[in-house]
Amino acid sequence: MTTRAWTWTYEGYDPGAERLREALCTLGNGYFGTRGAASETSEGPAHYPGTYAAGVYNRLISTVAGRQVENEDMVNLPNWLPLRYRVRPEGAAPGPWLSPDGPHLLTHRQSLDLRHGTLTRWSVYEDDAGRRLRVEQCRLVHMGEPHLAAQRTSFTAEGWAGTVEVESGLDGDVRNAGVERYGDLANRHLTHLRTGAERDDTVVWLRCRTVNSDIRIALAARTRVTDRPAHPPHARLTVGQAVQTLTIPVGRDETVAVDKTVALYTSRDPAISGPQTTAVQEVRRAADFPRLLASHHRAWERIWREAALDVPGEAGRILRLHLFHVLQTLSPHTAGLDVGVPARGLHGEAYRGHVFWDELFVLPFLNLHFPEVSRSLLGYRHRRLPAAIHAARSVGRRGAMYPWQSGSDGREETQELHLNPRSGRWLPDHSRLQHHVGSAVAYNVWQYCQASGDTEFLHTDGAETLLQIARFWASSAVWDPALERYRIRGVVGPDEYHDGYPDATVPGLDDNAYTNVTAAWVLTRALELCRTLPLSHRHQLFDRIRLAPSEQDGWDDIAHRLHVPYHAGVISQFAGYGDLAELDWEGYRKRYGDIRRLDRILEAEGDTANRYQASKQADVLMLGYLFSPRELAGLFRQLGHSLDDDSWRATVDYYLARTSHGSTLSSLVHAWVLARVRREDAWAFAEEALAGDVADVQGGTTAEGIHLGAMAGTLDFVQRGLTGLETRDNALWLDPAPLPQLSKFGVGIRYRSHWDVDLRIRAQRVRIAVPDGTDGPVRVVLDGVESVIAPGTTRRLELPGV
Ligand code: BGC
Repeated sequence: MTTRAWTWTYEGYDPGAERLREALCTLGNGYFGTRGAASETSEGPAHYPGTYAAGVYNRLISTVAGRQVENEDMVNLPNWLPLRYRVRPEGAAPGPWLSPDGPHLLTHRQSLDLRHGTLTRWSVYEDDAGRRLRVEQCRLVHMGEPHLAAQRTSFTAEGWAGTVEVESGLDGDVRNAGVERYGDLANRHLTHLRTGAERDDTVVWLRCRTVNSDIRIALAARTRVTDRPAHPPHARLTVGQAVQTLTIPVGRDETVAVDKTVALYTSRDPAISGPQTTAVQEVRRAADFPRLLASHHRAWERIWREAALDVPGEAGRILRLHLFHVLQTLSPHTAGLDVGVPARGLHGEAYRGHVFWDELFVLPFLNLHFPEVSRSLLGYRHRRLPAAIHAARSVGRRGAMYPWQSGSDGREETQELHLNPRSGRWLPDHSRLQHHVGSAVAYNVWQYCQASGDTEFLHTDGAETLLQIARFWASSAVWDPALERYRIRGVVGPDEYHDGYPDATVPGLDDNAYTNVTAAWVLTRALELCRTLPLSHRHQLFDRIRLAPSEQDGWDDIAHRLHVPYHAGVISQFAGYGDLAELDWEGYRKRYGDIRRLDRILEAEGDTANRYQASKQADVLMLGYLFSPRELAGLFRQLGHSLDDDSWRATVDYYLARTSHGSTLSSLVHAWVLARVRREDAWAFAEEALAGDVADVQGGTTAEGIHLGAMAGTLDFVQRGLTGLETRDNALWLDPAPLPQLSKFGVGIRYRSHWDVDLRIRAQRVRIAVPDGTDGPVRVVLDGVESVIAPGTTRRLELPGV
C-alpha cells in the first residue's frame, strides 16, 4: 500500500485483500454507496459488490438453531457496476471475457482520489499472442446529484487493431451475502424484478421491490461510446438483468472510451412520479461524463472546504481517508433523508446497516462542520420517539427507551441470537439491554444545540427527546433503602462481554457506572432545560408530555443519589465487578495470540467472559470520553463522591489492564482518555485507532463495512480530544493536550454563525483566526482567561504552564 496525501493506491491485484479494498474504496454521497468492487466479474469469493441506499431496510424471517428469528437488514440493491469486455483482433477469433481473476492480467493498480471522490482502476491484459489491452476505469458516485453514478472505461489497443466488445449491465440477481456469519439467515430481499429498454436501447432499466418493507427500487443505465454515435448499444434483457452490448472498432494504439451513467431512485424519494420513470428520465438527461466529473469535483471541493482538517504526516493521510468515508456516508444530502448513522457506513452489511450508540462518536464531529446533518440525524431519533416510548411502556417503564439497534421504524432490531464462529453455536444475544444508548441520544441533542446555537430545536423536538429519555432513567431507578441510593438494575454497559452475573438465570447487571453517571447527567440537563425553556414552549411541551413539577422533583433527587459502585479504590464497572475472577491475560495471549474477541474464545472453551474481570472495550472510561475532567468531577460531586486526579488515574490504570479492545471504539476512547492521564501511552492507542480499518485491526471485519464510529471518532480526537474544545455558555473553551507525536495541527470549524473559525495548535501555542464578515466576535476561554476575537482578526494564545 502506498499513499500520498490525497490518494490511496493499491498496487497489484490481490484476491485475498479484494474485499477489504472494496470496503475502503467504496464511493458514496450520503444517499447511496457502492463498494469499490471490480466491474468485470462478481464471481468467486474475492468479490462482493454491494450498493446500499441510506435507510432502505427490509425484514426477513429465518430459522436458526430450531428457532424462527426476524432480522431487518440494509438491503443490497441491484448491482450497477457490471461492465465486462473482450477483444477481437483483426483476423482472430474473439478472446475470452477479461477479468482480474483470469490468466491474462498483466498489471493492476487502483487508486482512490479523496479530493475528487473518484476511484480509478488501471489494468493491462495480454493475450496468448502477446497483444495488449490497456484499460483505465474511472468511477464516481455523484456528490452533487445524489441519484447519479458514472463510470468511464477507456480501452487502448496496444499495437493491434480490431474490436472491443463490451457488456454493461444492471444486475438484480443479488442477495445480502456479504457477512459469512449471517450465512444461515434468509437473504433474498428483492422481489418482482423487471427490466426494460428505451429509446433504441440507449437506456435500460431494472426495477424491483423489497419483500416486506415494499420499497420500490429502480435503476436506469445509459452506456455509450464516447464520440461514436455510429456504434449504438443493443439491449439484452432477462427478468433480473438488463444488459447493453456494444461492439467498438479500435485502431492500432487507439483509445476508445465507454461511458456508463446510472440513476437510482426508490419509492422513499420525494418529488418523483415513480422510481422507474424518474430514473429513466434522469439518466437520459444526465450530462456527459466529463461534465458530470467536473460538477462532482466542484461538489467535493465545497465539502472539503467545510471539513478542513490539517494534520501532517501519515496520521493526517489516514484521517483524511476517515473524513472521506464519514462524508460519503453522512453528507449534506443526508440532511434531507429520514436516516440515522449506520455503524458500518454504506460500505458493507455487518450489523445490518443498523444504528447504534455509535452516533455518539460521530455527531460531535459533524456538529462543528455540518450542523444541518446532525440535526437531521437527531430528527431520525425524534421521529422514532413514539416507538421508544412504546418500548419503555412494554417493559413497565415511562419515558423513551431507545433501541440498542435501530433501523426503519425505531423498534428494537438487535438480533435475538448470534453466532460464535469459533464454536459454531448460536447464542442468546442480550445486548439489547444496553439502555445507555438513550444517554447517547440525549448527549447528542445537548452537544448539537451547544455547538450550533439551534435554540429552536432545543426548545422543541430536542427538549422532547431529552425529557423523555430523562423520564425513562427516572422510571428505571429504584430506591434501595439499604444503600440509601437509587439503583438501575438489569442493564448491560458498553462492555458487551458482560451481559449477566455468572450463574444467574436472568441477564443484566446492576449499577453499571457508565449508565448511572450518564443517567444522572441526562436528568440534570433535563432539569436545566425545564428551568430555561421559554414559557410558551414550556407550557406546550409539559402539557403534551404531561410533565408535572412533582415529577421534576423526583428527577432532581435521583440525579443526586444514583449509586456508583466502587471496589479496591476504583469505580466499579458494575456492582460486583470486583468479585469476578482475574483472567490469566498472559496465558491467553500466549495461547491465542489475538485475544480481542476473548468472549468468543471463552465461550468456545465452555467458559464465559461473565466470570472474569475482562472487558471488551472502554466502559467506565467512556466517562472520560464524554465529559471534560472538570465536568466529570462535578458530576461525581453531585453524586456525593469525590473524583480527584488520583482516583481517576487509578481507575484508568485498573481497566486498562483488564480490557481486550474487541471493538474499534476501544482504542479510540483509550487514546482520548490517556492523552490527559498518561500522555506517554496515548499515542500507541491513537495509532491503533488510526490503523483500525486501513490495516483491518479487528481481523477481517473491515471487509464487511468500515467502522464509522471509530473513523469519525479519530477526527474528533483531534478536533475536541486534543484541543479540549467545549462549546458551552456561548463560548469556545479550550484545554489543549497535544501529544508529542501530534503537536501541530489545525482544524477549521463552523461555530454557530461563524463559518470557518481556524484553530491551530503549534507545540505550546494556540492560534485562532476568525474570518472577516462573520457575525460579531467569538469568545474563547483558555485556562480561565477569556479572549474576545473580532471578525477578521487572529489571536495567539500561550498554553498554560509555559
Ligand atoms: C461494539 C459496540 C458498537 C457496535 C457497532 C460493537 O462491537 O461493542 O459498542 O456499538 O459494535 O459498531
